[in-house]
Amino acid sequence: MNLVKTKDYDTMSEEACKLLAQRLHTLTDPVLGLATGSTPEGMYQCLINQYNQQQISFKNVTTFNLDEYIGLAADDPNSYQYFMNENLFKHIDIQKNKTHLPNGVATDLKKECTDYEQKITDVGGIDLQVLGLGTNGHIAFNEPGTDFDGRTDIVDLAQATLDANARFFDSIEDVPTQALTMGIQSIMEAKEIILLVSGEHKAEALAEVINGDVTEAFPASILQKHNNVTVIADEAALAKV
Ligand code: F6R
Repeated sequence: MNLVKTKDYDTMSEEACKLLAQRLHTLTDPVLGLATGSTPEGMYQCLINQYNQQQISFKNVTTFNLDEYIGLAADDPNSYQYFMNENLFKHIDIQKNKTHLPNGVATDLKKECTDYEQKITDVGGIDLQVLGLGTNGHIAFNEPGTDFDGRTDIVDLAQATLDANARFFDSIEDVPTQALTMGIQSIMEAKEIILLVSGEHKAEALAEVINGDVTEAFPASILQKHNNVTVIADEAALAKV
């Protein structure tokens, strides 16, 4: 694992943005795996700024997001599709038909999962996957106990995840209890991975990712087995490493 230490959230976001921008310059038809949540927001803002300064273009970029809540349609402000539109897609020159998220209101959710995997395969796999880290060690919505060989699937969210994500909803009862998520195996097939981690509330989890045992009880520990992972983390998140 490569480790990039940064002073704070803003510098973490800038480092991640710089790395992504470099890949956009060198890859011909970049395929990016993207995450939602609070962690990548600053990176997305930095990418929008770079686009506005005409330093990067997304014209040839294809994206696949990690996950989506079941039951939330694209126009629901809490859906991840809405998050991506607001935080990135509507501000840049990406072709809408090249952006992908699992559809959480598909009539056949199982088929949605196999179709999603097929779409990733059809474009030759993901070049660079961006990940955030759950305080319980989840990556995407692969909760503790998930099989390492899992692919895109329907999952139940752990109580810790419902608690953590309640901040975006009016009440905890409104947080969907299920999601569609890329599996650990799907994530591990990405050619390159960056894991972004910020804040002292992630310090214990990050120490486990870097120094802990590789175990399905702590999903992100599998990243130790990938041959091209860069962890970009701020001082607060690295406090226990
Ligand atoms: C989001 C995702 C999740 C988050 C994680 C951290 O698409 O897959 O695994 O990356 O829950 O969330 P934040 O960044 O809000 O702390």
